Amino acid sequence: MSSTSQRTLVLLKPDAVARGLIGEIVSRIERKANWRIAAMELRTLDTATLEQHYAEHVGKPFYEPLMGFMSSGPSVAMIVEGESVIEGIRVLAGKTNPLEAGPGTIRGDFATITRENLIHASDSEESAAREIKIFFPAHA
Ligand code: TYD
Ligand code: MG
Repeated sequence: MSSTSQRTLVLLKPDAVARGLIGEIVSRIERKANWRIAAMELRTLDTATLEQHYAEHVGKPFYEPLMGFMSSGPSVAMIVEGESVIEGIRVLAGKTNPLEAGPGTIRGDFATITRENLIHASDSEESAAREIKIFFPAHA
C-alpha cells in the first residue's frame, strides 16, 4: 500500500471568517480520514506577508484588489497534514472561479465571485513548503 503523507498551507480567507464559515470549512477538512490539523491561528494578514504569499500574481489586474480583500479582516491560517492532502484540499475547495466549482466543493457551495472564494490551499509540494515557511516559520 502506498502512502504519501504531506503538509499543506490552508487559509480561510476574510470572507469565510466574516460569514461564520470557519466551522463548516474546518469540519469538511477534519472529517477526511487520515488528515489532521497541525497548526491553526486566527490573524489579520499584513501586507508584507501577503506580498510574499501572492508573489506569483504581482502585476496582474486582480492583484491590488486581492491584497485589499485579503487584509480586510482576520483569516484562519492552518497547516493540514496527511495522506495526499495537497491535491485533496484543492479538490475539496473546488475551482478558483466559484461558478466553475462543482456542487459539494467549498467554493461551489458557498461562493459566487472569484476574489471572495473563501479558501486558499497550496497547489504543489514546492508551494506548500514555501507557504508554510511564510505563515508558520516555527513549523517549517
Ligand atoms: P490563483 O492562484 O489563480 O487561484 P487559487 O487560489 O485557486 O490557487 O489566484 C489566487 C487568488 O487570486 C484566487 O484565489 C482569487 C484571486 N483571483 C482573482 O481575484 N481574480 C482572478 O481572475 C484570479 C485568477 C484570481
Ligand atoms: Mg494559487
